[in-house]
Amino acid sequence: MKTDLLQMVESGGCSAKISPKQLEEILKYLPLPADSNILVDIDTHDDAGVYRVNDDLALVFTTDFFPPVCSDPYEFGQIAAANSISDVYAMGGDPVLALNIMMFPAAKLPMEAYAEILKGGFDKAAEAGVRIIGGHTIDDNPPKYGLAVVGYINPARLITNAGARPGDNLILTKPVGTAIILAAQRLGMADEKDILEALRLMKLLNKSGADIMKKYNVKGATDITGFGLAGHALKMARASNVSMHLKINEVPLIGKAYNLIDEGCIPGASFRNLEYAEKDVGFAPGLDYNLKMIAFDAQTSGGLLMSVSPEDTEKIIDELKAAGLTSASVIGNVRESDEHLVYLS
Ligand code: CO
Ligand code: CO
Ligand code: CO
Repeated sequence: MKTDLLQMVESGGCSAKISPKQLEEILKYLPLPADSNILVDIDTHDDAGVYRVNDDLALVFTTDFFPPVCSDPYEFGQIAAANSISDVYAMGGDPVLALNIMMFPAAKLPMEAYAEILKGGFDKAAEAGVRIIGGHTIDDNPPKYGLAVVGYINPARLITNAGARPGDNLILTKPVGTAIILAAQRLGMADEKDILEALRLMKLLNKSGADIMKKYNVKGATDITGFGLAGHALKMARASNVSMHLKINEVPLIGKAYNLIDEGCIPGASFRNLEYAEKDVGFAPGLDYNLKMIAFDAQTSGGLLMSVSPEDTEKIIDELKAAGLTSASVIGNVRESDEHLVYLS
């Protein structure tokens, strides 16, 4: 029988993250090491930590792993690797090395499934120019997979959560809705076409988007993952001390994501994300319920959210589209800090 990884989990991919609220409470107890070579730590809730080696070189260091977000082991490996490597791209770094992190129920799944997951991860890492040079496995159910990734960056070229400036436009490189489509798939309500599109997007490396950010000297960006578009915008707004205004009706969506919400396809992670962010997020009067939930939909291996100058906006959009990111669009702008860190309209 063919292995179907989705049968083994209740919430997969970045939807399985611990709630942002609980995470913040735990992180309060974690001391921050004091070292002047640490350029980015958890203080700004960024995508990766950054450590200066010398004036020209810093290491970008990150890890992500999660339970299956799709049925096929090889595709799961590809998605998990693309998602892990993305955090290096989001910081403007060049990913170089990785280690596998694997939890695998040896008694419940054929060993071929294990091999397929690792092969998917290896192939995706190779596509990114990343060499996997080791790893670690624990016998555990359900399976979980991801990478710890190291990248290089010139410290002067860092792209962080703290780099958004008032007046910038916000560009998103991939459409939103992976968790909604996945929830619909479980309920047998998703179109095959939409499932394939969600899989294609999750497997897609954020490399081309990152190359374009570097070319235009973008200073502020993140990738959209488990806390949803509004959740990650909130982390950027806080770190940059600005207010981010998002026009949710201009956010590109995967297939029928909007209508699926009417049919009850709202993953639990959306409510956790909303609960965490609510006190800092303003909602336009009469904002459509579906759009509100879309803003908090947990993305797995989502796109880059970049804060770009008005002069470069059109050129960047054109280049992203030419690179195959056909849904790339301006979805809001950055303003001086006001009563809300994020405002949704
Ligand atoms: Co990230
Ligand atoms: Co991450
Ligand atoms: Co970042």
